[in-house]
Formats: sequence, C-alpha cells, structure tokens
Amino acid sequence: MKQIFSGVQPSGSFTLGNYIGAMKRFVDLQDEGNCLYCIVNLHSLTVPKDPELLRQYTMELAAMYLSIGINPEKSILFIQSQVPQHAELGWLMQCTGYIGELERMTQYKEKSTGKDIVTGGLLTYPALMAADILLYNTTHVPVGEDQKQHLEFTRDMADRFNKKYGETFVIPEPMIQQFGGRIMSLDDPAKKMSKSNPNAGSYIALLDEPKEVEKKIKRAVTDSEGIIRYDKDSKPAVSNLLTIYSACSGESIETLEKRYEGRGYGDFKKDLAEVVINTLTPIQEGFTKWISSPDLIDILKDGAVRAEAIAEKKMATVRKNMGLVTF
Ligand code: TYM
Repeated sequence: MKQIFSGVQPSGSFTLGNYIGAMKRFVDLQDEGNCLYCIVNLHSLTVPKDPELLRQYTMELAAMYLSIGINPEKSILFIQSQVPQHAELGWLMQCTGYIGELERMTQYKEKSTGKDIVTGGLLTYPALMAADILLYNTTHVPVGEDQKQHLEFTRDMADRFNKKYGETFVIPEPMIQQFGGRIMSLDDPAKKMSKSNPNAGSYIALLDEPKEVEKKIKRAVTDSEGIIRYDKDSKPAVSNLLTIYSACSGESIETLEKRYEGRGYGDFKKDLAEVVINTLTPIQEGFTKWISSPDLIDILKDGAVRAEAIAEKKMATVRKNMGLVTF
C-alpha cells in the first residue's frame, strides 16, 4: 500500500500550476494509498508574513483542498503547526543536513538573491520539508518539478540517518508528471507559473473569474508559426497551453494536435479558456461552500489528531535511535 504525503504553502492565491502540477493528482491518489495532505504554514514563515493574513490563507487553503476533491474520510488533511513533531524532526534534520547542501538549493538561491531580509528558515526550509515527509513512512510524494531537488535532499537525509542511527526512515519516491510537472507563465514560457509574479496576467489563479481567465488566455504569448503542435524546445508557449488544455480536459496532446490541425491560435485559445473555466467553476463553487462551513475546523482538528498519532510513533523511534533521553 502506498503511503502518500504532500504539502502546499498557504501563501494567498493558488495557481493553475499548483493545481495541475500537484493538487489535481492528490485527488486521484486517494484511491491508491493512504494519503496525508498538509497545509505547511511553518514553511510560509520562511519569508515575513502578516499573522492575520497567514491565519486567513491557512483556512482558505484548507477550503481549497476540500473544494478540489480531497475527502477527509479518505485522507488526513491537517495544518503542519498543529502537529509539533514536524518542528521537532525539522530541527533534527537541520542537524543531519550540511550547510553546503542547503546553500546549493536552487529555490533558496532564487528566493534569497537580492533580498534585504533572508531568514535562517529560508536556508533550512528543505530540512523541515524532509521532516514532513519522513514522519509518515511516506513512499510517494506527488509534487511539481520545482520540488525535485528538495525531494533528493529528503532522500539523502533519510539514507544518511539510517546509516548513522539504524533503519529508521523509509526512502520516499518523488511523483513528478512528465506533462504538467512544470506549468509555465502565460507571458513568458521560460518562467514557471507563479503567484509571486507581479504581473497577474502571467498566471491563472484558481479563484479567477471566467472573464479574467478569458482575458489572460487571450493575451497569453504564442509564436509566429501559427501551428498548434507540441514541441517544448522550439514552441514552449504553445506547448505550455497544450499541456494546460490536456490536463484540464483529460484529452491527450495528440488528440488536441489533430483537432486543431489547420486552425489558428484564436480558435484554440477560445476553446482553452472554456476548458479552464469548466475546470475552475466547480472548484470555485466548492470553495464558497467550504470557506464558510462550520465543519472546516472539525475536519482540521480531526486530521491533526490522526496525523499526530502516526508522527509520534515515528518520533519515539527517532529519539531513541539518536540518544535523546526519554523517561
Ligand atoms: P508550493 O506551495 O510552492 O507549491 C505547491 C505544489 O504546487 C507545485 N507547483 C507547480 N507545479 C507545476 N507547475 C507550476 N508552475 C507549479 N507551481 C507550484 C509545487 O511543485 C508543489 O508540489 N516546499 C513545498 C511545500 C512542501 C511540501 C512538503 C511538498 C512542504 N513540505 C512535503 C511535498 C512534501 C512548496 O513550497 O510548494
């Protein structure tokens, strides 16, 4: 039986990149194994955060998980800070990893370059992520491609710990999709689609209104060839739009290439906008329901209790193996 764990940061809006690259798969995986899905609010603190906003975004992400189809009867949905074993093992992972390894992380370099304030947490972020995963005997971690290096670090930490202190952790496998593992910006196919891009036209947020979606897709860059075909190297923008279309409609890229043979980008974009809107509408309806639901807090409380029971069992072994005295 697969043991599946993944996390998303509560940092405001969520993009179609988050959804296609990771969250959409969380839903399907619920039938393939035991799933734990986490709102990683401690990770959000690695860049300065307003407490009120962090509270709001945390609850919004919980509502979003439920809106996309996470079923709390099948999966454990919880907030990272409510299970203190994450912070505890995070520290022990900091003491297992090396500064050089952490400094080599591309995400750290990207997020720290040119910043006035760089917290210690931004550097040690992957140690906490390793802790998240290793606490639950995780075998599989569905993530987007940008998390690949962090997963390699996690595997190295597990292996190093096991060699030093005896078999303690399962070595997890990343699950990264061939198509959709890296959804690109609508205004620049060389950049990852990201909510931190100051140009809101570069990403589609899951809560964007239909009109906004239409506008953003209409303005999305393409190329001068005028042919709808997948070629990541020479047609990155059109290939990205095809990937989004395929992920939202469930049709293969070849089917789409055939359908749009001899047709122009205008037609294609019009249909793409419709397919994206059809994907987002039920999510948005779910969100409106869940964000004001009195059940939301109970689901999160229950998730934290269930997660902590697993995490504490693992921590008891870790403490013993590392020589941390317990009476
Ligand atoms: P975060 O919150 O930045 O993103 C959540 C998930 O969305 C994926 N993603 C994308 N996938 C494809 N194309 C894109 N443009 C795109 N943008 C984001 C991310 O790869 C991710 O899977 N460090 C993690 C959170 C985390 C975590 C964990 C994940 C903390 N602990 C343990 C897995 C397991 C992060 O910041 O994701």
